[in-house]
Amino acid sequence: MRFKTKLNILLLAGSLLPLFPVNAQKWDELAKTPPMGWSSWNKFARNINEKSIREIADAMVSSGLADCGYVYVNIDDCWHGERDENGNIQCDPEKFPSGMKALADYIHGKGLKFGIYSDAGCKTCAGEPGSLGHEYQDARTYAGWGVDYLKYDWCNTPDQNTKGSYRLMRDALYASGRPILFSICEWGSTNPWEWARDIGHMWRTGGDIGCHFDGYKFYGDWSEHGVMQIVDKNEPLRLYAGPGHWNDPDMLEVGNGMSDNEDRAHFTLWCMMAAPLILGNDIRDMSDATKAILMNKDVIAVDQDPLGIQGWRFYSTDGIEYWFKPLIDGEWALCVFNRTTSTRKVNVVWSDLVTYDNISRRSFKPTREKYKVKNLWTGKYVGFTDNDRVETIPGHDVVLYRLTPVDGDVTAN
Ligand code: GLA
Repeated sequence: MRFKTKLNILLLAGSLLPLFPVNAQKWDELAKTPPMGWSSWNKFARNINEKSIREIADAMVSSGLADCGYVYVNIDDCWHGERDENGNIQCDPEKFPSGMKALADYIHGKGLKFGIYSDAGCKTCAGEPGSLGHEYQDARTYAGWGVDYLKYDWCNTPDQNTKGSYRLMRDALYASGRPILFSICEWGSTNPWEWARDIGHMWRTGGDIGCHFDGYKFYGDWSEHGVMQIVDKNEPLRLYAGPGHWNDPDMLEVGNGMSDNEDRAHFTLWCMMAAPLILGNDIRDMSDATKAILMNKDVIAVDQDPLGIQGWRFYSTDGIEYWFKPLIDGEWALCVFNRTTSTRKVNVVWSDLVTYDNISRRSFKPTREKYKVKNLWTGKYVGFTDNDRVETIPGHDVVLYRLTPVDGDVTAN
């Protein structure tokens, strides 16, 4: 090969480098357990500003939420201003007069992390500037502001390839040099659980949640999903979730208007599914019941269990569902969920609940081994699995147990 031809090939390869960055990958180690935090969308939608976000950061610490593990303070859609003459994205100067860097510094000063939102298309779902054609530039801007988490939406993306678009932003975030958690939000439209494991840390598995328990609410060309519709979509995907890559059934609606029973069931099922726990209520103003749900450390520990295995619906009969989740050190979580609207008396018969989990490759065999039973919503130990239990469960509510193996043969007692 002549020297000039070789030189041309080298120059061509060099000019393609920004398109195919060397060592592009997602930031590792950012989501070993499901991410926990707060996001503005469910409660505030467009109505956000730096004063309210600072107050949310204050409340995150003063309420005790931060102490429970909630760390991200995320601004969703509608923070944007215009791009400047060089294409740099700016925040809305009226809503955020001190700028995003100052807000991030404030949030970091509280020991919390800062999340932001963009979209892979030309505009966000609310019509704000998207990142299309500005991916590396926006990632650099976010890194400069001190962003720790990016939710990346999928509105206004005709003709775009989903995987390619998300991979491009993943590479841009990596090239920015700042570890930024990447939350994929294409509503499960192209089965991201099959392709996004090396791209994002979590991916939405379905459409937007609404503040209602069962059914859909339709608004012209889009709809809001009830908690039950989201659960039924997310539950079968357990094989795809694990440390660093989580199924995301959407942000929480706890504290936004469902009944306390429904809020408790909603939160418990998210924990059983090892879902990211991103609060969606006004944490500056929470009822005691909402606080008791969101800050139950025993229940949160089910979600955050280091094994990182999503639970599953083991058995369902006449509106009563039994869910299992394997936990570290041979323990299990068992949730009994009353999906009906009326109070039900449920006999928990341990010998009916023998099961095998093909991810942890562990069996739950209460007929052969004895487990100590703790009711996580009352905080009380209620005995052992050598005695069946009778529970009265209100409609749309749960009982949640943590089952700890104890030494000794069950037949000896
Ligand atoms: C989409 C997302 C929501 C929210 C809105 C903002 O609908 O799925 O979670 O981010 O956009 O416009």
